Amino acid sequence: MTVTPQQKRKLVVCRDLGPDAMSLLHERHDIEVILWPYTDRACDRQWLMDNIVGASGVIIMFTEKADREVLDKAGPQLQVVSTYSVGYDHIDLKTLSRGNIRLGYTPDVLTDSVADLSVTLALMSSRNAIEAASVVQAGDWPNKPWAPFLFCGPQISAPHFTPTRTVGFLGFGRIARATLARLVPFGITHCIYTGRSTTSPPQIDDDPSLKPYLQSSNPLSSLKSITRVPLTTLAAESDVLFLLAPGGPETYHIVDEAFLRRMKKTAVVVNTGRGTLIDSDALARALEEGWIWGAGLDVVEGEPVGADHVLIKEPRCVVLPHIGSSTTETRKVMSAMVVKNALAALDGQQMPAELDLTGRV
Ligand code: DGY
Repeated sequence: MTVTPQQKRKLVVCRDLGPDAMSLLHERHDIEVILWPYTDRACDRQWLMDNIVGASGVIIMFTEKADREVLDKAGPQLQVVSTYSVGYDHIDLKTLSRGNIRLGYTPDVLTDSVADLSVTLALMSSRNAIEAASVVQAGDWPNKPWAPFLFCGPQISAPHFTPTRTVGFLGFGRIARATLARLVPFGITHCIYTGRSTTSPPQIDDDPSLKPYLQSSNPLSSLKSITRVPLTTLAAESDVLFLLAPGGPETYHIVDEAFLRRMKKTAVVVNTGRGTLIDSDALARALEEGWIWGAGLDVVEGEPVGADHVLIKEPRCVVLPHIGSSTTETRKVMSAMVVKNALAALDGQQMPAELDLTGRV
């Protein structure tokens, strides 16, 4: 059937998704693709507000807020929001649910790349990688000759002489578990976590999905326990703490001054979740005054932040520009998925990954 230009449905795409994914869109002659024209900057809100009017679908990044104002502006024909992220704290789920607008997202495909980066940040921050590398880059290495305690930091893996290590997770979903799997060969002995679900079993013995991590089922593992604990215990007992909870009001500044003051002086905190999980000013004080050892952040509240930000000045704070999922392999799959989610919804079909919005009204 030929579709006239007037009959074409409009799909707004907030960033170029690479040639493979874009060609999936361009081969659809029944869809008019409205693409944000720049590759070097984020889609601005005014452009989105202007172009979403009359759209049937929109593909956004976590940098675009799909709030009520934007969704209402689109009009009642809007069928789908497809986000290039596993997180959806930038989207107003209630407005979607009320308007029967479907939501596609990209879980699972980025689990490994984010878990890889979480471990990278734990190692970089505990081993002073930024401070040490900057000495080399500044040409100052000859003035800092090798010395027994130069650039020393706490060891993440369990050393033979103190063979216990507790790894903590704030949020214990797919990425947290993949991070734990990577740490098993490090000789970690205990894993503690806090999770959203109040019904999930507090002890490993009750959750068979966690058994493969443990020494009892895995001869290569030193892990003796995986235990759900209160937040205060998570703070006090973690040697390395990974923040992998969703953003949003429920978790806003969950790591605040009181939390950081409870932590071990040798602890390292890694945030690959959302910047809003940590109170940045409190973290800067914690690093400056030595309440904790170091921090590795892939996300910062108010990102992107400039050189004057309190945390960028901290030598014990490694900050990366939100690159958790940025491997070429992962990003290609995410690009294809975000397009397939949008097209499936426009075609009234099952989406590869749809968030269930039941009960979100
Ligand atoms: C996510 O997927 O939520 C990341 O933070 C952005 O890719």
